[in-house]
Amino acid sequence: MTEKIRIRGKQIVNGVVPISGAKNAALPLLAAVLLSSEKILLRNVPPLEDVRTMLSLLDDMGVRFHIRADSSYASTIELQADAVNDFRASYDIVKRMRASILVLGPLLARFGECSVSLPGGCAIGVRPVDLHLKGVEALGATVSLKDGYIHARSPRGLRGTEYRFPISTVTGTENMIMAAALADGKTILENAAQEPEVVDLANCLNKMGACISGHGSGTIEIDGVANLHGVDYAVGPDRIEAGTYAIAAGITNGCVDLMGGNFRELLPCFVEKMTEAGLVFTDIGGGLRVESSGKISPIDIETAPYPGYPTDLQAQSMALLCIAAGISNIHENIWENRFMHVAELARMGANIKVASTHARIYGVEQLQGAPVYATDLRASFSLVLAALAAEGVTVLDRVYHLDRGYCKIEKKFAGCGVKIERFR
Ligand code: EPZ
Repeated sequence: MTEKIRIRGKQIVNGVVPISGAKNAALPLLAAVLLSSEKILLRNVPPLEDVRTMLSLLDDMGVRFHIRADSSYASTIELQADAVNDFRASYDIVKRMRASILVLGPLLARFGECSVSLPGGCAIGVRPVDLHLKGVEALGATVSLKDGYIHARSPRGLRGTEYRFPISTVTGTENMIMAAALADGKTILENAAQEPEVVDLANCLNKMGACISGHGSGTIEIDGVANLHGVDYAVGPDRIEAGTYAIAAGITNGCVDLMGGNFRELLPCFVEKMTEAGLVFTDIGGGLRVESSGKISPIDIETAPYPGYPTDLQAQSMALLCIAAGISNIHENIWENRFMHVAELARMGANIKVASTHARIYGVEQLQGAPVYATDLRASFSLVLAALAAEGVTVLDRVYHLDRGYCKIEKKFAGCGVKIERFR
């Protein structure tokens, strides 16, 4: 029996939300531990299922670590990769979490070999890794595919190169930064991903002795060094969690203080478009206050790589636009199949027409609670948001999707006067 969440509708989200460390920063930072033999301290690590999956992958390779819970929302993890004896990322772990591909770059850079299971697709799309492989081949690695595994070798080490990504890829950029950090010579990455999580990784690697510049722009330069030393580093705040709770305030006509980061800077396009939709953003010490203006207006959204509109906030934004006073359009330009939440929102009375990667949302007066199920991480939260605004009770099934990327959702909502109940 999978866990379910029961949500009574017409609740108003009013309160303070402590934003956790970013899942999509913590995962590459954990993989980067493989680049050094020295002790590494990672702070503000969110206690998430995906983090536990990455830790089990590192454990299988021989990385030693100790976890200390600092609060309900953050842990400090001490790790050391001085006795790595296995360079293989097995399918049973990789199929659970696509981001496991992030061990490819560091294993090649430090040990000159790795066997990483092809990730396989997931609910939102095929999710190829061809650009990761072309990148490490440009650095001099030889790559072959056999039995569903990527076998990569760089017996003579990696050599700096110039590599242009044909499309912006977040983990592709992160893999190349980690591989190039220990390569011989300079690497220049063109059309690199500019996401804040890429910047977080580069900042940590520079504190470990790497020589990286340009991160946060489309051109990143990495001068390879002989080795990297230990570091004490804190994971940056999760802008996607922050945007998600901002929408919770907007959809319930409430007010939240998102604490723990400069979210206006981390979510420039989101703040601009949500202001257009009728949310009001006010900078407060240590965070950002978000409240509804009382009326949600229709808007058009085009998802895009940073600093554009985050695809990871698309499903949540659609939930809000289901109750806007008019017709909105969402173009999902990153993933080919990221509208699984549409059918479930329709069960709650939403009126949405989908054609390929374009969704047209006809705002309705009122959503209705219903039994629905989660299909992927961000879709699951869009249903939670709709349930909070709906009339009646919603039961959300397959809650494990939520737990992959959001920590202590019941506790964070309880801090905002909202009750959601987990049961089997
Ligand atoms: C990262 O995934 C995030 N995950 C995703 O968040 C996020 O949706 C995505 O970036 C886009 O912002 C992590 O950081 C762990 P991409 P990633 O490579 O790196 C195509 C969440 O909800 N592509 O930037 O896997 C790909 O198909 C998750 O937290 C290739 O064609 O995404 C997609 O269309 C979901 N070949 C586009 O590029 C490649 O080799 C962007 O993908 C790699 C990617």
